[in-house]
Amino acid sequence: MRDQLAGPGPWHRLEHLGEVGSTNDVATRRVAEGAVAGLVVVADRQTAGRGRLDRSWESPEDPDASLLVSFLSGVPPRGRSLVPLAAGLAVGDALCRAGADVALKWPNDVLVDHDGGERKCAGILVEHHAAAGERPAHLVVGIGINLDWRGVERDTETAAWGSVAEATGDDVDRWDVLADLMRSLGAWMRDVPEHPERLLGSYTSRCRTLGRGVQVATPGGTVTGRAVRITGEGALVVDTGDGPVVVTAGDVVHVRPRPE
Ligand code: BTN
Repeated sequence: MRDQLAGPGPWHRLEHLGEVGSTNDVATRRVAEGAVAGLVVVADRQTAGRGRLDRSWESPEDPDASLLVSFLSGVPPRGRSLVPLAAGLAVGDALCRAGADVALKWPNDVLVDHDGGERKCAGILVEHHAAAGERPAHLVVGIGINLDWRGVERDTETAAWGSVAEATGDDVDRWDVLADLMRSLGAWMRDVPEHPERLLGSYTSRCRTLGRGVQVATPGGTVTGRAVRITGEGALVVDTGDGPVVVTAGDVVHVRPRPE
């Protein structure tokens, strides 16, 4: 971890807190207090963790059960819409190193196979804050990873969630995962403006949504069909039977298995 903070990568300061509302909110507050890109905020517990689409993000009391972290980054000069995909790839890399066989669900859920099905084990919430006065525009990349939920009771929100330890059957170290995540996220964030084709190639090969029958709840209604490709901007193209529909944001349900 120390190597990561002192090295050439983009993350230079780690703030480790006990209980917070949301690490994304702490990172955003730090900007108002003068923090610059490179700050990493990690918390043991969140009382108001936030997910995409106005959902909450649950985590057990035990600090080692989940990794709850937010990265404060500048806005890349090109390809901002690829940042959530870059974060998904980075989580995938870190969890592979922890021994898990993971797949990505568009746009940026991370899945493990466990208990006879696909279970979500990580989520990503990227928030953009425009420049204001002296303060430059920035991104907060919030990542929640279910590390070890063995013995944790699920509620309706978390019924379909899994964790790394449940998938691998092994212990997993929160700080090792964070160090790997910092390294990978730094590298994929560099690819966003410099090598978007490499990022999209890797994303496409790890994205389990492609080739599947999907139902996507979008702000404009539900799109049903087969997910066929990812655009250069990171959007999902769904073949509905009546032609392709490009989806830039939404909640995907995988409805049919990928054909063999
Ligand atoms: C999702 O899948 O809906 C995204 C979940 C993102 C959760 C993380 S936990 C750390 C950071 N702080 C938050 O309040 N949310 C993100």
